[in-house]
Amino acid sequence: MQRFHVTTFGCQMNVHDSERIKGMLEAAGMGEAPAEDEANVLVFNTCTIRERADDRLVQHLNAARIRKEREPDLRVVVAGCWAESVREAIFRDFPWVDAAVGPGRIGALQTVITAPAGAERGAFGSFDDFAADLPKRRERHHQAWLQLSMGCNSVCSYCIVPSVRGRERSRHPRDVLAEARLLAAEGVTEVTMLGQNVNSYGRDLPPAERCTFAEMLRAVDAIDGINRIRFMSPHPKDMRGDVIEAMAECDAVCNQLHLPLQSGSSRILKQMRRTYDADRYLELVARVRAAIPDVALTTDIIVGFPGETEADFEETMRVYDAVGFDHAYTFIYSSRAGTEAASFDGHIADDVKHERLSRLVELVQQHAALRNAALIGTVQEVLSDGPSRREPTVFRGKTRGNKTALFSPPAPAGTIVSVQIEQSTSQTLRGTQAIPVTA
Ligand code: 5AD
Ligand code: SF4
Repeated sequence: MQRFHVTTFGCQMNVHDSERIKGMLEAAGMGEAPAEDEANVLVFNTCTIRERADDRLVQHLNAARIRKEREPDLRVVVAGCWAESVREAIFRDFPWVDAAVGPGRIGALQTVITAPAGAERGAFGSFDDFAADLPKRRERHHQAWLQLSMGCNSVCSYCIVPSVRGRERSRHPRDVLAEARLLAAEGVTEVTMLGQNVNSYGRDLPPAERCTFAEMLRAVDAIDGINRIRFMSPHPKDMRGDVIEAMAECDAVCNQLHLPLQSGSSRILKQMRRTYDADRYLELVARVRAAIPDVALTTDIIVGFPGETEADFEETMRVYDAVGFDHAYTFIYSSRAGTEAASFDGHIADDVKHERLSRLVELVQQHAALRNAALIGTVQEVLSDGPSRREPTVFRGKTRGNKTALFSPPAPAGTIVSVQIEQSTSQTLRGTQAIPVTA
């Protein structure tokens, strides 16, 4: 029997696509190998958002080449955004790659893997399949991704995504809701809605079928069994009152929001083509907090965008401090060929970028520690993920605010428990499960 192994790089969208890739390979009669070196079909689901992502992939491909010299039957398959960005050139530059598919063509994977010698080994472009409609293999019984859309219509000047994932296409609300109901029936309690820009969901649908993102939140909230709804990522420019109201009013929608800021300098935001400025972002945060006072806010920030001065960077630090985020993903700007910003003047020296990043990371940690410490003494609802890997007697799970909580005594994966928070670090909360008193 052929045994596959999928290595995933990049974002949640890729994690979700990998579940579909695994589901398809299983449907084709293959089994998953427990480790990469026990597999004879290696799949790399790739990301191309930063140059380093590309470098890491090349290392994996080189390792696969060495293995293939000893095991000529080994199949090397490349899927995802990097494959889309290089397309057929992959077979020229990495001749030991047997098949490749872009993120819009996952459905073609089986055909290209089993293609006879001389047949087409690559499937790119066209974005004609929703990975969501393919068979899937869920990693966790009680949690699932729910894909709302694919592609992106924004024109952020640094970003390669629109060119590899195409224009935004919303999945039909009927299909999204049918999947959500099916997931609930299978025992899923938490869904994370996915889209490059979830809150522009539905705008491309024909008027008779149109459903806004806020309406979708309410419709999934109404499904019995779904107790937690998360989503990522919204674009601040499309975060309107109806979404904030739906978040506040729907019991299942978690008190958590990942709202990418990218920069705190209005001048840089303009160069990034984000279409909001620092003041508008801060106003938005104030509106979200007024509606959902205990909301946990996280963000994405890029340091060292072309032309970023020390004063611009200080604006980012100021806005970060003013919001007091719960956490942030911090990125060093990476120039991507084909993006608008790649041709901008004023690229920042590496040492300056690194120095700014380390100052920002310090601020991120400080606020994370403060925000977590503020939860000491509270009772948090935690969805158990089972035993902690490092301390098997301690269990771990996520709060509704999406923070990792360690707790004892144990509760099986998938159960929702109340945890009295006693300690915290910048990364985790720790506490004791409050045993419900039964009459
Ligand atoms: N360089 C650095 N970071 C980037 N991101 C997107 N493109 C780039 C780039 N060229 C970051 C953004 C985005 C996150 C997923 O990746 O912060 O929100
Ligand atoms: Fe995700 Fe973007 Fe990376 Fe593609 S390039 S995997 S969309 S982060």
